[in-house]
Amino acid sequence: MSTARLEYNGQSWELPVVEGTEKELGIDISELRAKTGMITLDEGYGNTGSCQSAITYIDGDKGVLRYRGYPIEQLAEQSSFVETAWLVIYGKLPNEAERARFSALLTKHAMIHESMRNHFQGFPNNAPPMAILSAMINALGCFSPEVLGNEDESNFEESAARLLSQVRSIAAATYKMHIGQPMMYPRPDFKYAENFMHMMFSVPNGRITPDPDVARALNQFLILHADHEQNCSTSTVRMVASSGANMFASCAAGVSALWGPLHGGANMAVIQMLEEIRKGDLSPAAYMEKVKDKNSGLKLMGFGHRVYRNFDPRSRILQKAADIILAKLKIDDPLLDIARHLEEVALKDSYFIDRKLYPNVDFYSGIILRAIGIPLDMFTVMFAIGRMPGWIANYKEIHDAPRLKINRPRQIYTGATKRDYVPREERG
Ligand code: ACO
Repeated sequence: MSTARLEYNGQSWELPVVEGTEKELGIDISELRAKTGMITLDEGYGNTGSCQSAITYIDGDKGVLRYRGYPIEQLAEQSSFVETAWLVIYGKLPNEAERARFSALLTKHAMIHESMRNHFQGFPNNAPPMAILSAMINALGCFSPEVLGNEDESNFEESAARLLSQVRSIAAATYKMHIGQPMMYPRPDFKYAENFMHMMFSVPNGRITPDPDVARALNQFLILHADHEQNCSTSTVRMVASSGANMFASCAAGVSALWGPLHGGANMAVIQMLEEIRKGDLSPAAYMEKVKDKNSGLKLMGFGHRVYRNFDPRSRILQKAADIILAKLKIDDPLLDIARHLEEVALKDSYFIDRKLYPNVDFYSGIILRAIGIPLDMFTVMFAIGRMPGWIANYKEIHDAPRLKINRPRQIYTGATKRDYVPREERG
């Protein structure tokens, strides 16, 4: 085993170097504090491996993304979201029996418990859908006896299917509540994406027939969001799971982490930015100047990524998918032209080139979601539906580990040193 040497104050220590299957190297500092009394400091965790994981591989410099070894391009082209979900969760492509069993479980659990349907009435009509989703996923745990304290291998698949199936039913019900339409029951004859579209867009006296091309675009969107190793929300899921919390509680926390505009919320922010430019408040050129000015507080939304310092492979696939679906639906979306224009300008601009900023997954995904009729405030919810397999798989890795070890980082304290309590009457 190779080692790295750390020297400090005339002393030196050998630290083991761990190598991953793709030759990534990590210095194992698990005994650093015990040996040296020091910890590492890495705010934002850009240089910290929080775990060893066998789920997703990313090479950010080369623009590579693989789930369980399979390139994202192949999965987006040939797989379905449900098959990819099973792959991400279980580590292999399902055989026919496994696929059929999982599919039957998804159908069995698609319907929201009637008591849970009443929970929706308790939210104000304009409640943010991500708040409802997080709350409802936690509530779902209460209707899932197998997870509350006695989850094991025999019922894990049942829980995973319940969560994966109902996240889409909850999302659609949230939308229906918001627009004042009756919630639609799922249809057992529809596949995952088609059923979601039915629950979103059918009404009791007008059932839609989902367009296969739209269903395919939706499948691609979901596949491309299925996992992305130790991002903010997935790390949150692992953090919560490491305390022994159940799958539903852990994934509900993932939804909260995803909500932020620097993470999943960026897909909404991209469309808002493009709309602002379209309305003529700012020309694309003026907008680009503003994002380069640090005082403006603006960013080119949908650009840049903590890990990809080259193109994000998901954005390339989604750009093509956006072209296809807009042509199919005969939609001429001016926002797509603005997005293309901004990308063209950014890719030639030294500000973006020097900082290695390229379009990320969110830059084109919103155009697709708009085209298929998903309202803007549901965009991040769509991301959450897509990310559910990754959260479940990461939860499973923690849950299946031989020893549950709580995640508990340390800190460098920078506050006041010891001082004595001052009685209220003596304070200045
Ligand atoms: N527009 C303008 N400048 C940017 C952008 C951007 N979108 N992204 C990064 N920069 C600049 C930073 O200001 C910084 O400049 P400096 O070196 O002169 O100070 C430099 O590029 C490095 O950026 P960091 O913020 O250090 O990069 P970090 O890895 O911390 O952040 C992040 C990555 C959060 C994604 C960032 O690029 C960003 O805010 N992008 C816009 C929001 C977005 O699209 N988020 C979605 C990410 S993908 C996902 O979560 C699914």
